[in-house]
Amino acid sequence: MALERTLSIIKPDAVAKNVIGEIYSRFEKGGLKVVASKMKHLSRKEAEGFYAVHRERPFFNALVEFMISGPVMVQVLEGEGAVLKNRELMGATNPKEAAAGTIRADFADSIDANAVHGSDSSENAAIEIAYFFASTEVFPR
Ligand code: PPS
Repeated sequence: MALERTLSIIKPDAVAKNVIGEIYSRFEKGGLKVVASKMKHLSRKEAEGFYAVHRERPFFNALVEFMISGPVMVQVLEGEGAVLKNRELMGATNPKEAAAGTIRADFADSIDANAVHGSDSSENAAIEIAYFFASTEVFPR
C-alpha cells in the first residue's frame, strides 16, 4: 500500500472533553504519524468553505454551528493507506453504528457531535490539507 497523507480534525466536542492526547494515541498506535498540527477556532466562513460540498444537505447549518462552537485540532496524518486507516480508526459517522474500540464509539455522543473528521479519499485529502496548511507547515517526506 502507498504512503499517503490525510486531513484529520478533532471536533469541538472532543476538544471540550480533553481527549486530544487519547485520540493522538489512537492515530499513533494505528500506524499513523502526525506530520502537521494546529489548534484553531474556525470562523463561520472557514467552516462553510470546508463543508461547501454539503451545502444543500439538511444538516449543513447545524454542522457549521457545531464546528464553530469551540476550538478544533487540525492535523495531517501520514502512513501506509492513511485515508482508509484513519476512517477505520474513526468508526462510522453515527457513533451508535461505530464498531467497538473506534474513536467515535469511545468519544462521540451523536451523529451531529461525532468527535472527528477524516478525508474520504486521497484526492479530497490533498484539497483539505491545502485548505488548512501551507506546504511549509507540513513536515517534509
Ligand atoms: S461522511 O463522513 O462524509 O461519509 O458522512 P456524510 O453522511 O456524508 O456526512 C457529511 C458530514 O456531515 C456530518 N453529518 C451531520 N452533521 C450534523 N447532523 C447530521 N445529521 C449529520 N449527518 C452527517 C458528518 O459527520 C460529516 O462530517 P465530517 O466532518 O466529514 O465527519
